[in-house]
Amino acid sequence: MKIRNIILGTVMLIAASCAPKNETERKVDELLSRMTLREKVGQMNQLSGGAWLVDQAARGEVGSILNCVDPSEINAVQKAAVEQSRLGIPILVSRDVIHGFRTIFPIPLGQAATFDPAIVEQGARISAIEATASGVRWTFSPMLDVARDPRWGRVAEGSGEDPYLDVQMGVAMVKGYQGADLSDPTAMAACIKHFVGYGAAEGGRDYNSTMISERSLRNTYFPAFKATAEAGAATLMTSFNEIDGIPSTGNRWLLKDVLRDEWGWDGMVVTDWNSAGEMIAHGFSRDLKHSAEQAINAGVDMDMMSYGFIQYVEELVKEGKVSEKEIDRAVRNILKLKFELGLFENPYVDETLSAKVDYAPEHLAAAKQAAVESAILLQNRNNVLPLDKARTILVTGPLADAPYEQMGTWAFDGQKEYTVTPLAALREEYDVIWEPGLEYSRDKDKSSFARVRAAASRADAAVVFVGEEAILSGEAHSLSDLNLQGAQSELIAEVAKAGKPVVVVVMAGRPLTIERDLANCDAMLYSFHPGTMGGPALADLIKGKAVPSGKLPMTFLRDAGQAPFYYNHNNTGRPCNGTETLLEDIPVAAGQTSLGCTSYYLDTGYGPLFPFGYGLSYSSFEYDKPVLEKNVLGCDDVLRVNFTLRNTGKYEATEVAQLYVQDLVGSVVRPVKELKRFQRVSLAPGESRTVTFELPVGELAFWNIDMKYLVEPGDFRLWVAGDSASGDAVEFVVE
Ligand code: NOJ
Repeated sequence: MKIRNIILGTVMLIAASCAPKNETERKVDELLSRMTLREKVGQMNQLSGGAWLVDQAARGEVGSILNCVDPSEINAVQKAAVEQSRLGIPILVSRDVIHGFRTIFPIPLGQAATFDPAIVEQGARISAIEATASGVRWTFSPMLDVARDPRWGRVAEGSGEDPYLDVQMGVAMVKGYQGADLSDPTAMAACIKHFVGYGAAEGGRDYNSTMISERSLRNTYFPAFKATAEAGAATLMTSFNEIDGIPSTGNRWLLKDVLRDEWGWDGMVVTDWNSAGEMIAHGFSRDLKHSAEQAINAGVDMDMMSYGFIQYVEELVKEGKVSEKEIDRAVRNILKLKFELGLFENPYVDETLSAKVDYAPEHLAAAKQAAVESAILLQNRNNVLPLDKARTILVTGPLADAPYEQMGTWAFDGQKEYTVTPLAALREEYDVIWEPGLEYSRDKDKSSFARVRAAASRADAAVVFVGEEAILSGEAHSLSDLNLQGAQSELIAEVAKAGKPVVVVVMAGRPLTIERDLANCDAMLYSFHPGTMGGPALADLIKGKAVPSGKLPMTFLRDAGQAPFYYNHNNTGRPCNGTETLLEDIPVAAGQTSLGCTSYYLDTGYGPLFPFGYGLSYSSFEYDKPVLEKNVLGCDDVLRVNFTLRNTGKYEATEVAQLYVQDLVGSVVRPVKELKRFQRVSLAPGESRTVTFELPVGELAFWNIDMKYLVEPGDFRLWVAGDSASGDAVEFVVE
């Protein structure tokens, strides 16, 4: 068997190296053969800026620019490159377009809460249409970092804690950005980032070290990169962090052995911003020259903003520390992308286009729908929501009318003048009494609270918009305290004293610890930062014109001290046995004994506040126990699970049905549950439907004790439910 694989592998390798070159490869070879070393290094250099880079472009010293979105400046730099540089190689223009360009969609974590890859793909397509209209042909998105610690500010930018959801959302974004063909002028090359493990930064402190075993890299952190690489992602960015002492930008095993040799990916690798240079601070490189040598030899193609490549590569080649073969590899990958994007034929952007494309009505409609689907209903006592009967409502809170803040982190090009806030949208539906209460999320000034409470007494209901300013999440914005900032919790408590129904809407970049706020309100909608159209989306949900369907893409904690906390953890040797000893249960002067099931904090208990996958609806759903077509399966079989889902409530609504599996005994400890499928199912009141999940048994494979990717025969359990903590288990066997 082994010998057969080796022979097959060798045949494939020979076949690959003898494969006839395609048209693009021929063009790349031809151009490369005419380039000087200096010109090659110029292509490997990415700089931030616009018009002031014209001279460097004319000298062929810059291959890509980032952070310029002015079409006339872009054309000026492009003209210098195309018409003045010796070989006329066009510039690749890039930008962080991570949840919309002008029309801002919910932050990626909010998009993940939709569990709707189709709407995510549509959002990415629209982002590409708008960004390319301004001349941007490369975005640094999607961020695929599995993130299990909400203290990390960048949880906002990814799809949360689950590898499978991460795969689905990442692939949807890549397809949306790149479209069917990169040469289409509205196609924007995607960049899968940050390779890899950046989300596992110790304690959620940005840029920090990670200790991730090869097995958990492969089982947890690689899958979304591999899947999006296979889906054709054009580029990849290395991460800032080091893993077990090796910074990713200098990690040859990651960038060559895994990415190229194992996965066979042929896209272009860029560093993160100065992540080559930062290897000096890590203590991994002696100086900038050494960092350039290490990065290129590890497999990096393009340097973002360390200036190390452009300064030292010629010397490094002369000294024999970097071979010209490595340089050619890098430049080939860069030129190939430029040819594929059609930049040689169409280097310029039509400077009148963006005015016609930005904020098109269909873009705004899609952003609104994404915001509707991304909101999660966490509590709805006495079915207070929807507020369909109320006439006069109090609107209060620092996020109710904060057009800039509701766009969320890194909405660089979204213009707040186009944002529709909840206050504006609710005024279309109700008689609104408006009392901000607090000016901004960190505001501690309670001087207007008495007025807010009096206003609440005059209203039929109160809606309090709280959360985080955009700047509190995202890069370099980690927090140790996840409670609402400023006096926001006090504001909610004050409003509650009026005795009217209280609805709280949280707009934030991360899961916050909101347990005490839940106690002071009847209903809570968690919308993350919902983007340009967040206001109308939330107004529809509050009024009952739309029904919540979002589900949590991350576990919600009772206290930040529980982090990291995620549903798909391994079991300890002392899993919860159903009884919890809590702090108050321990007698004074208790004997020095362990208390049994104590693999949790005595002050928070075993569970989270809300589990991954959780989210309510205005309607209610019942799941019948799932039925397997076969309970004994072979490794090549497809598992088919049928279940009946019933809408038992009064609203037409959508439920995200989720399939979880547990491999009971493995050659290494396996997670207690893993999401394997999900499906949005829309049902009329009283309607029921039998839904089928199909799961090839091959997808139960994992990297086992021998570091082989295999399905290990044995006993399994599965659940079909509306969240990761519910459902009746069904057993099956793989032989
Ligand atoms: C640093 C960030 O880590 C990365 O995500 C981003 O794409 C680059 N800066 C460029 O802005």
